[in-house]
Parts: sequence; structure tokens; C-alpha cells
Amino acid sequence: MQPINSNEPLDEIRQGEVTLLENGPTPRGDKKLYLESYGCQMNFSDSEVVASILATDGYQTTRNIEDADLVLINTCSIRDNAEQRVRKRLTEFKSLKKNNPELVVGILGCMAERLKKNLLEEEHLVDLVAGPDAYRDLPNLLNEVGTGQRAVNVLLSREETYADITPVRLDQGGISAFVTIMRGCDNMCSFCVVPFTRGRERSRNPHTIVEECRELFKNGYREVTLLGQNVDSYRWNLTSKGAIIEPNEATVNFAQLLIMVAGVSPELRVRFSTSHPKDMTDEVLHAIADHHNICNYIHLPVQSGNSQVLERMNRGYSREWYLNRIEAIHRIIPNCAISTDIISGFCGETEEEHQSTIELMKEVCFDYAYMFKYSERPKTLAERKFEDDVPEEVKGRRLTEIIELQTGHSLLKNQRQIGQIQEILVEGPSRRSDDQFCGRNSQNSMVVFDKKTAVKGSYVFVKIVDCTSATLMGELVENKNSEHP
Ligand code: SAH
Ligand code: SF4
Ligand code: F3S
Repeated sequence: MQPINSNEPLDEIRQGEVTLLENGPTPRGDKKLYLESYGCQMNFSDSEVVASILATDGYQTTRNIEDADLVLINTCSIRDNAEQRVRKRLTEFKSLKKNNPELVVGILGCMAERLKKNLLEEEHLVDLVAGPDAYRDLPNLLNEVGTGQRAVNVLLSREETYADITPVRLDQGGISAFVTIMRGCDNMCSFCVVPFTRGRERSRNPHTIVEECRELFKNGYREVTLLGQNVDSYRWNLTSKGAIIEPNEATVNFAQLLIMVAGVSPELRVRFSTSHPKDMTDEVLHAIADHHNICNYIHLPVQSGNSQVLERMNRGYSREWYLNRIEAIHRIIPNCAISTDIISGFCGETEEEHQSTIELMKEVCFDYAYMFKYSERPKTLAERKFEDDVPEEVKGRRLTEIIELQTGHSLLKNQRQIGQIQEILVEGPSRRSDDQFCGRNSQNSMVVFDKKTAVKGSYVFVKIVDCTSATLMGELVENKNSEHP
């Protein structure tokens, strides 16, 4: 999940103090939890579920690790370097534990699931290991630790969606929130560890999703990002829960869910991540085109521009299929931004195959891309079937070529917006100056502008006057008020 706005592993550290929603659990007791999250948006979203479960168990979150009674790290396994970062971070906890022998250290998330109890053997200071489907069990696991044992629960579930848990929102500025709509993944992309760490795909009851979004809106949030590894295969069978309805209304698919969430309020922006090229339907594209508050932005990971490589990756589509989906987006949604993920140096990738990725990038001209060197992951199809045979320096050189090309494309795409007047949701102060606000346009570009009369959490119109490859600079258009996003 992306820098907090799509489905790219951002390897960023996030922690936060609890901001309680009106109906969120109120922490009882004075135990302090320090929670650090790595990886994709799904992990950040899960951390909010964990904070909620532990608030009910008497833990308040703290930003200050020195104050903590419990330190939890929500981890990522997507590439080897994501795991190495966590290992390094664990060594930094040694001195903490020396100063406070009572301190409990737990590992959550994908590394916990992948390595299971081996983590306890490999990392001596770890007291607790809990996989992504085991968070309801955290209070019990902590009790076990309290009796001097080390505790592990890495059971994966076919049903768990934490649908009834109101997440405690951690440090998101109170404007934009992640809402998990499904868990797990049933695809078997040959490079990917996620099906092993997150288990089988399951969708969450749409009524609980809409209810969560309604609550968020009531609490001042103005944007939700619906999260799943492959949102296009979202499917909820209403009849399975005993509801009596017409047969043709028996299921809710992703397009229908989008429309349900968009119906919460025209002032609530709806985003989602991640779409899968093999499953993205025109029905979803029409839902976006027909609803002003469903944002004109699609993250559609291509991984490679070469059909043979895509076959080895087991992605379930060809280059032609992908380009057809791009064409459909442009045809159905005028002015839709598209971003992607690309892997360089996958098993057996020839120079020619790499060139077809470069050519595809030139053809599509993505607004943004998340680009990675292939990292072999244990137990995956690729590890068992293919040799990781592209030398490290070749992977690196190809990645540099991809990044350089993309930086040019991002700049070009931003330059084309200069002169436009765009509707921006004001997220909060910009990082650079207290006199400036930042916010996103529908296409997900970050726009920075002088505050003037703008108010956080409102929609404003901004004229784009300048840009870099990463940010648009604008000027508030003060006499134009937005009635809806
Ligand atoms: N579910 C999303 C992606 C989840 S992982 C999807 O299907 O697109 C996010 C991105 O990490 C992937 O899109 C891929 O580009 C990258 N990635 C996954 N496994 C990787 C690996 N073994 N090495 C390098 N990059 C990887
Ligand atoms: Fe991994 Fe593929 Fe599932 Fe995405 S769709 S999480 S890349 S297996
Ligand atoms: Fe996300 Fe990393 Fe797990 S990308 S699903 S936290 S392996």
C-alpha cells in the first residue's frame, strides 16, 4: 500500500496517541501502549483495531516509548528489507528492557505470521507473537505473559473481519481514515508473501462498513479509503446471514459497496486500494464516473509490462489485457489519475522483457508509481519454481531506469495541471510552513497553498500555479465556495 494513500508498503513508522471517536472504547486503567506500524495501509488500519481492543483492556497509547508498559510492533514481510528494519529496531529495544525489566514487547502482523514461534527463538526480548487474525486474543496473550510465559497466537481465520470493532483512530489528523473492507488474499502471485501472512480472502459485512463510514463522517472525517488486497473481488452474500431479500439483490459486489459508501454524504470522499487488473470491472469504473465524491484515482499495479513475466508472476492478465483496462479507465472516467506498482528484476527477466516495462510506462504515462527490486520470499511459488537469477546490480540498474522515467512522467503530469482550478479537501497544515495548508485533489495529488480563509476539513477551490514532480503549489480561490466535493 502507498504513502498512506494506497496499497503500497511504505516502510514508514507511525505511532500515535489515541483520538477517541464518540462511540470508541474508553480506555480504563493507566497502562501505556506504544504501537509502531510498518508496511501497508492494512497494517495501519489493523493497528487501530489493536488499539481499540487494548483500550477495552485498560491500555492508553503513548508516543513516548520510555513511558510504555507494552511495546507492540506491527510488522511487514513483503520484502526482505522490511523484515531487516524490524530486526534492527528490536535491537534498539534491548536497553529499554534493561531499564524496565517489566516491559512487555510483542510482534504483530505479517512477520509474526510468517515466522511464528521461531521469532521467540530468534529474538530473545520478544514476549508475545500475534498474527493478523489473532488480535482479539491479545488480552489473553498478555495475561499469559503476565504469568511469566511467552505467548503465541498465529491462527489464521476464514471469517475474522473485526467487523464489530470500532477502530481507535491513531494520529490521522481527523480528516481521512482507512476502512478495511476485506482481509486476506486468494490470489497466488508467485512473488508475494501476503497469502501466507494474511490467509484466505474474506469480505466484511457491508452494513458495518457503511455504519463505520457514517460514524466517521459524524466525527468530522471527510474522506475514507476502503482497503483490501484486491478490492475488486469484494463480495458479500447477504442471504448467508439470514436476510430475506430478492435473489438478484443477494450479493453486494465492490461497485455496489462503493455506491453505498458514497451515499453516506456527498461531502464524504471515497477512495479505495488496491484494484487488481484482472478483476477490475467497467461497473466499478461507471460507479466512479457517476459519483462526484468517489475520487478519480485508481491504483492499478502492473508489476511488469511483459506478458511472459506476468505469466511467471501468475498475475492472471497479459500486457494487452492491462492496456485494455487503462483504455477503459480513460474512456469511462475522463480525468482519472492512475498509479501503479512495478517490480524490477523478477526471476528470469531479460533485458528485452525489462524494455517492455519501460515501453508500457511510456505508453500509459502513470501519474505515480511505487517501484521495487524483486526480493525473493520464502515459501512463495517463485521461490519454489524459479531461480532468483537477475544479479543485484542489474536489478538496481533497471530500477533506476524505471524510477528516472517515472519521475519525468510525474513531473509532466503535474505540469499539465498548472492553470487549472481544482477542488481540494483541506487536510491540515503543510509540513513546510504553518502559514500553509495541504490537501489532495480528487486525483490524489498533494496541493500546498497559503491558508488565508481556508478551514481544515472543508472543501476549497485552488488555482494550481507551480509544481514539482511530487507536489502541486496553488492559490486559494476565495470567492468560489464548494457545496459538495
Ligand atoms: N495486493 C496488491 C499489492 C500488495 S503488495 C496487489 O495485488 O497489487 C504491494 C506491492 O509490493 C506489490 O504490488 C508489488 O509491487 C510489491 N511486492 C510484493 N512482493 C514483492 C517482492 N517479493 N519483491 C518486491 N516487491 C514486491
Ligand atoms: Fe500479493 Fe497478488 Fe494478493 Fe496482491 S493480489 S496481495 S500481489 S498475492
Ligand atoms: Fe501489508 Fe506488508 Fe503484510 S505489505 S499485508 S504488511 S507483508
